[in-house]
Amino acid sequence: MRTVSELETLAGFSSGPEPGVTRVVFSQADRKARAWFKNLCRDAGLEIREDAVGNTFATWLGSEPQLPRVGTGSHIDAIPHSGKYDGTVGVLGGLEAIRTLQAAGFRPRRSIELLLFTSEEPTRFGIGCLGSRLLAGVLDPSAADEFKDREAKSLAELRAQAGFNGSLESVRLPAGHYHAFVELHIEQGPLLERNGIQLGIVTNIAAPASFRLTIAGEGGHAGAVLMPQRHDAFLAAAEIALAVEAAARSTGAIDTVATSGVCEIFPGAINSIPSRVKIEFDIRDTDIARRETVAEALHAASARMREKRGVSIEIETINSDAPATCDPAIIDTLKRAAEDASCSHSLMVSRAYHDSLFMSRIAPVAMLFIPCRAGVSHRPDEYASPEQIATGVRVLAQTLAHLANTQSS
Ligand code: HGY
Ligand code: MN
Ligand code: MN
Repeated sequence: MRTVSELETLAGFSSGPEPGVTRVVFSQADRKARAWFKNLCRDAGLEIREDAVGNTFATWLGSEPQLPRVGTGSHIDAIPHSGKYDGTVGVLGGLEAIRTLQAAGFRPRRSIELLLFTSEEPTRFGIGCLGSRLLAGVLDPSAADEFKDREAKSLAELRAQAGFNGSLESVRLPAGHYHAFVELHIEQGPLLERNGIQLGIVTNIAAPASFRLTIAGEGGHAGAVLMPQRHDAFLAAAEIALAVEAAARSTGAIDTVATSGVCEIFPGAINSIPSRVKIEFDIRDTDIARRETVAEALHAASARMREKRGVSIEIETINSDAPATCDPAIIDTLKRAAEDASCSHSLMVSRAYHDSLFMSRIAPVAMLFIPCRAGVSHRPDEYASPEQIATGVRVLAQTLAHLANTQSS
């Protein structure tokens, strides 16, 4: 299948060691991958536009281009040492859906717009869905331009180096630009495969919140300072992390999740008591009130550590987003397309966030999941079979065709 070989080619644009894929936004690998993708879109006769943050729009003009458009797409940036399918299935699968419709002689009334969103992953700037947040108008453009990466390079500097100019204010699209937005994505969980179901139709997208804590204690010699005199910044972080985990496990709902994927210890020497720690927490739930109970537990544990361990703690909220509810009409369209293709399908929640979470602020959205092996994602062994990808593309194509020619406004 053409898309499978294109996914392999795209995986080759990586700045990390095989077998994983590393494609951080605005890296050389990302910029080469974008250029390659744009050529594929040109070959398909699509009109290409890139906005000031690098969101890329490849448009199949409809017979009535003034009408609100039908959007599809996802991301191609990949966290370090990850897989070939997260995001890319939605970008290249969306392109394949368009090419399939073209080959079938379909003529869209509404233009169909394939999007490649910039920086869906939080790797470089610490916040996920940077491009779709700006596009949806839910992120302050001037604050965003000041976001810095680990080398203290700003978004403003890095996007200009990558050739994306203009004000970030210009990225925003008005509500009404899209009639509908549908994102094809791997499930990044085990349910479809475990239940032998071919497609997932997403009803809700969980709400992510993330926090950055800077904990300052007192450094010192790991041998000479006695335990009662210590103000160990890492142990304060450890107690907070365990409190956050306990809170996530005790909301009574399986949808509440939390982890800490980033923890930097200073000075980072085995025989030196940690004087400073930067630790980040990712907390999610489909229910925002439940998620807030975990955030409150984080704040309460931090207050306890200030007292108990005599450390100072600064808490920065990186993001705290509302969940998304997918559009019932698009869900029905996806269901009918799956039935027409004789595919088993089930309604489900997306526990990962996606650009659709922010597209839902300006358009009716829905997502179509295909299984991934053992539910593995964000790892080199992430995998979706050619048959699963082809099924997702086929149902996406039919859904886009229906949405592009609906009479409703
Ligand atoms: O973290 C997420 O949910 C997404 O895969 N970036
Ligand atoms: Mn991801
Ligand atoms: Mn993704």
